[in-house]
Amino acid sequence: MADRGVNSGEAEASVGTDLHLELSGRGARREQLMLALREAITSGRLAPGTRLPPYRTLAVDLGIARNTVGEAYAELVAEGWLTARQGSGTHVASRATPLPPPPPSAGDRARRSAPEARPVAYDFMPTSPDASAFPRAAWLRSARRAFNDAPGDAFGVGDPRGRVELRTALTEYLARARGVRTAPHRIVVCAGFAHALRILGEVLEGTVAVESYGLAFHRSLLTGAGLRTVPLTVDADGARTAELGAVGAGAVLLTPAHQFPTGGPLRPERRTAAVDWARATGAVVLEDDYDGEFRYDREPVGAVQGLDPDRVVYLGSTSKSLSPALRLGWLALPEALVNDVLAVKGVREMWTGVGDQLTLADFLACGAYDRHVRVMRRTYRRRRDRLVAVLAERAPHIGVGGIAAGLHAVLDLPPGTERDTVRAAGRLGLALEGLGAFRHPDSVMEPREGLVIGFGAPPEHAFNGALQALCTALPPAP
Ligand SMILES: Cc1ncc(COP(=O)(O)O)c(C=O)c1O
Repeated sequence: MADRGVNSGEAEASVGTDLHLELSGRGARREQLMLALREAITSGRLAPGTRLPPYRTLAVDLGIARNTVGEAYAELVAEGWLTARQGSGTHVASRATPLPPPPPSAGDRARRSAPEARPVAYDFMPTSPDASAFPRAAWLRSARRAFNDAPGDAFGVGDPRGRVELRTALTEYLARARGVRTAPHRIVVCAGFAHALRILGEVLEGTVAVESYGLAFHRSLLTGAGLRTVPLTVDADGARTAELGAVGAGAVLLTPAHQFPTGGPLRPERRTAAVDWARATGAVVLEDDYDGEFRYDREPVGAVQGLDPDRVVYLGSTSKSLSPALRLGWLALPEALVNDVLAVKGVREMWTGVGDQLTLADFLACGAYDRHVRVMRRTYRRRRDRLVAVLAERAPHIGVGGIAAGLHAVLDLPPGTERDTVRAAGRLGLALEGLGAFRHPDSVMEPREGLVIGFGAPPEHAFNGALQALCTALPPAP
């Protein structure tokens, strides 16, 4: 503390960058400062080229003498850690060692897992919309309005259900666009569908029926919570819900608007059968409405939830309509489940930031969400038509299915060709998956071979190139 008090009369310095430096209690202040700066440089906290604060600023911030800072800087310049030029201040030298690159993410690892796979040039994974089409300007307008208009309590500890503005806007939107019958107090905002399913996994017990084809990740959220999953047969009309009576489940997870990934809408009598089963047995239907807004060939298929809001849990998300990076989703719950869900969600685990919640509330209320969905529906419909047209021209022997809705299609492959086709696609730099990757391990269905093609993800300028590369990977006509 030798130098403490030297600057005691000075006001807090107002110029220069903020440095988080902690001087250890031993040795002279100059050595302590040099040690702290060296550590900040080697750890990468101070990147090469970073301009250091003027002597006076750092001296005031650290409560030490100005010439102590000057001496420490000068010595580090002499050692080569810093550079100093008349008039342009003191900077971290460019020789500073960079940190090793981060290990690849789980997604990168999955994409690079095939030994011969090239880096991804075209992304056909079915879980993403066109990220380049995120409506930045409209979102910013909503964010500005939302922050301006938010009451003071919005920035305090909030309601674990989520902001009331968002729950109110969702109630109106879901009723109008998806036929969902709910109320703000029955909605719980979550960090996307996956978070909502994870919570439900903790609330439910025993066995959950799932579709024979679906996302393994979603099944693992249920099994991770100690539940068992049993597969229902899936065909062109969705899941065969008549099988529910025989599987002994207390819940069923369905994708009624557009079976994921095979693509059929759940036929009306199968919807009724699921709801009747739930009523008769006290079970619940979990409705994953992940891309219900994107219906092309006829009027939107409404939500099953509208048939019985006390037996169906409706799960929605912005992951297809806006961006999977927002991590915004919601549950419209039967009254009887609200408290159980909130107990699992926890009172201080808000998960989704209030800024995004308020912004989405405004985005829905001002009509921007509807406008964006309408624009994207046209875009994705055009892409689907181009996919179908290119296949008809270059690979007429390959059937395309599941295209009446959503952001993906299924290309049917001749028996015994799926594995090699996925590998050939990987060699061409295409990220895609075969139907086999989605199959429940206990399914007794006759395996179906095909490619699941997410046509939403490639940006517009890359779409034609992606289609041509895809055709090259397909097996030749027999
Ligand atoms: C079948 C299915 N359900 C739900 C979702 C939404 O998931 P989340 O909101 O966790 O991103 C997706 C998105 O890709 C999906 O493919």
